[in-house]
Amino acid sequence: MQDVRFASIYSASYHLLVKSRQEVPNMKKSVNTGVSGLDELLDGGLPEGSVTVLSGPPGVGKSTIAMQYLYEGVQKGEPGLLLSIESNTSDALSYASAFNWDFDKYVKEGKLMILDRSIFEESEMQLSHDFGALRDIMKEMKPKRFVVDSVTFFDFLFRDEIAKKMNIMRFIDLMKTNNCTTIMTLKQSENFPNIQYNEWHFLSDGLLAMFWNRNHAENERCIWAVKMRERNIDTNIHPIKITEKGVVIYTNDVPSITAP
Ligand SMILES: Nc1ncnc2c1ncn2[C@@H]1O[C@H](COP(=O)(O)OP(=O)(O)OP(=O)(O)O)[C@@H](O)[C@H]1O
Ligand SMILES: [Mg+2]
Repeated sequence: MQDVRFASIYSASYHLLVKSRQEVPNMKKSVNTGVSGLDELLDGGLPEGSVTVLSGPPGVGKSTIAMQYLYEGVQKGEPGLLLSIESNTSDALSYASAFNWDFDKYVKEGKLMILDRSIFEESEMQLSHDFGALRDIMKEMKPKRFVVDSVTFFDFLFRDEIAKKMNIMRFIDLMKTNNCTTIMTLKQSENFPNIQYNEWHFLSDGLLAMFWNRNHAENERCIWAVKMRERNIDTNIHPIKITEKGVVIYTNDVPSITAP
């Protein structure tokens, strides 16, 4: 009799455990990234409405992942907004076309908007008041996917450290408007494992650290999903490659280069 009772309690708890993620109340939906292997690392994708920092040194593939993510969305009819600080609008378009991502078509259809740094040609005072035109555009366009490439411009906009920190928090709040899901790239001068963490790393919901793994003359791009709030992520380091289709993450592999 006791065995039967235990069996039924066991069976009930087992069914609770295997309940699919989508059935869990208040669980945020996952936004698929379009980057091969990345959704797998993130336990399904980016949580809807989250803000993720993609950090790394030059040439590691930050902009490629960020644009690939936007392209995945616009192809499915999700409005996308790119704030391209590093390059002007026409350079951003030609960057995408190198991967055969037809950003131009979606810009013309009004599904994709590209803003460049000219949107921030305001005084520090105005910016700290309301982030000016960007706030209005987000309100009107209601993007589902937002990319900022990169957020390093904050270093130039805010000289005062406290003002900078306050505005980083306000900027992250702005990104979360209307359940928009954001990737922002961050230039990382130090290479792994000597990362100097700052406010962006701590205040974001997610952190993906990209880095170069080096042994003598050999160099290999790698990615490490450091954190994603509310998700059980794979925190192992995996190698990546940039191909003509964008970034590919090899989730079953470990770096082939062992640094000395
Ligand atoms: N079709 C392609 N196939 C393979 N590699 C490519 C291709 N197109 C670009 N790349 C590589 O991608 C690299 C640039 O990647 P990306 O611009 O995403 O880096 P990043 O991390 O944003 O760099 P930065 O910090 O300079 O902005 C180039 O150096 C180039 O080697
Ligand atoms: Mg870049």
